[in-house]
Amino acid sequence: EPYLDCGAYLGATVGRFANRISGGRFTLKGDTYHLTRNEGRHHLHGGGRGFDKAVWRGEAIEAGNQVGVRFHYCSPDGEEGYPGELDVSVSYRLDRSGGLRIDYRATTDRATPVNLAHHSYFNLNSGGATSVLSHRIRIEADHYLVIDQDGIPTGELCTVEGTPLDFRSPRALGYRIDDLVAARGGYDHTYVLRSRGGEPTLAAQVTDAETGRRLEVLTTQPGLQLYSGNFLDGSLVGREGIAYHRWHAFCLEAQHFPDTPNHPSFPSAVLEPGEVYAHSVIYRLGVQT
Ligand code: GLA
Repeated sequence: EPYLDCGAYLGATVGRFANRISGGRFTLKGDTYHLTRNEGRHHLHGGGRGFDKAVWRGEAIEAGNQVGVRFHYCSPDGEEGYPGELDVSVSYRLDRSGGLRIDYRATTDRATPVNLAHHSYFNLNSGGATSVLSHRIRIEADHYLVIDQDGIPTGELCTVEGTPLDFRSPRALGYRIDDLVAARGGYDHTYVLRSRGGEPTLAAQVTDAETGRRLEVLTTQPGLQLYSGNFLDGSLVGREGIAYHRWHAFCLEAQHFPDTPNHPSFPSAVLEPGEVYAHSVIYRLGVQT
């Protein structure tokens, strides 16, 4: 029940379209679609009742030396304004290397934009009791998407060089966060990942020196949203009574670029009938040796 009231997307599958769609509308094949506007005049994370609020059906899976669970949800035609009935499955599998692999599959009966993302928050030190600003992070990206004051991409790709977004070499997450407070409250930006393809490749690595814990994120997606928990304000209380405060957790959300339906120059996020949407993300935990 608390998840249905929660607006922070804790551990959620975000969809039908993760991140923002400008003005809550887009045009596809000559038709204009109007989506729920749930962040000012914009559409965020699939709308007022996005996939994070859907009740999914789950079944256990066991294959080889992996165990997991597969969730299924059928999003009706017109849900939150999107065209077509979308049949979605999300599989979570634990492997022996400390990896949690998430595989997304979807099919549709009408062309629709699809962008499914995983929205877990991480704190490698304290389960959320302390800030993550001293975690060291490396991101496999040379460019990020320039955004306006609402977090909507302008369409421009900019080099990270000389900006607070430069994590090409490992740096403390908070090294220049103060430069971003006025605009977005911290990190809330999309990185253009260097490589992508059939198999998940390394997108980011985060370490906590005090505990030696390490998180690696691998994905097939073109973008990675770094979000530093800017909107956490202490009102959410999680495990062991820990209240989640600003910058006490980070998210690394592998996804297509925000507002893709309004940017023909971005990699397409349209799924056509007869096609299968397929993306994967792996969160692999380990220790620094
Ligand atoms: C994403 C968005 C943020 C925020 C968080 C959840 O990272 O880009 O602006 O919505 O999800 O609060």
